[in-house]
Amino acid sequence: MTTKLLDGILLAKEIRNEIYKIIKKEILNKNKRVPHLGIILTGNNSSSITYVNNKIKECKNIGIKYSLKHLPVNCLEEELLEEIIKMNQNPCIDGFIVQFPIGKHINQDKVILSINPKKDVDGFHPENFGKMALDMKTFFPATALGILTLLERYKIQISGKYTVIIGRSRIVGRPISLLMSRNSNLGNSTVTLTHSKTKNIEYYTQQADIIVVAVGIPGFLKGKMIKKGAIIIDVGIHNNEKKILGDVDFYSVYGKASYLTPVPGGIGPMTRVMLLKNTLIAALNNR
Ligand code: GUN
Repeated sequence: MTTKLLDGILLAKEIRNEIYKIIKKEILNKNKRVPHLGIILTGNNSSSITYVNNKIKECKNIGIKYSLKHLPVNCLEEELLEEIIKMNQNPCIDGFIVQFPIGKHINQDKVILSINPKKDVDGFHPENFGKMALDMKTFFPATALGILTLLERYKIQISGKYTVIIGRSRIVGRPISLLMSRNSNLGNSTVTLTHSKTKNIEYYTQQADIIVVAVGIPGFLKGKMIKKGAIIIDVGIHNNEKKILGDVDFYSVYGKASYLTPVPGGIGPMTRVMLLKNTLIAALNNR
């Protein structure tokens, strides 16, 4: 079977242009202050540094202002909370994120709870997460929104389809399971959320019309685990010596799936551009 690759780079470019047009029309032409994203990074995790640098590059490309606060790996919980309070109180910052993971000595729940929900462009605060679960308007986490948008723009129907999600993280698995099962045009899928304690995971994946893999294990989803014609969304990204790998074993899935997101160039660029979109929404709400 022919597998079509879902090009996240091309689509992200298209959406970036759309965002820029709105910034120009609603902000620059009206002489309003440009959107401003705050980023708090802790420690020296090389993946996090790459993610943050990419987010900064995105901001620069489109004319969104950014402020980066980089705290050392051993920073205290109070120091991080203090920076969050400063960003909450700074009227020039429209939205901000704390890049995860953070040190194990810091209480992640406290961190998320201390972010002003109106500035929570990651959509991780329980107020926003709860609104999402209740089908209310709010910030949706960027990766989940990126997946939905990719499916929408490629006109891939998800309504009535059986979707299996692998991985229940707060950042990807949990939010995408909620969004795909919503009573909405871009939802109405029947969703099974599988995770590390799920027994016989192939039982679910072999029946799935759509599989979202966000498990953090390179090459986890193999061709023999899917049915012919399945739509495969690969959220993983791993630097393996010379190669960048996803959570999908590309070569055994390619030729069996109908659609597949490549790594790199699939969900990654979509995630970054959705953060810009959320920042623009925060800025428009704030003007
Ligand atoms: N770490 C990995 N993905 C994300 C994300 O989308 N937001 C934040 N804040 N941290 C991350």
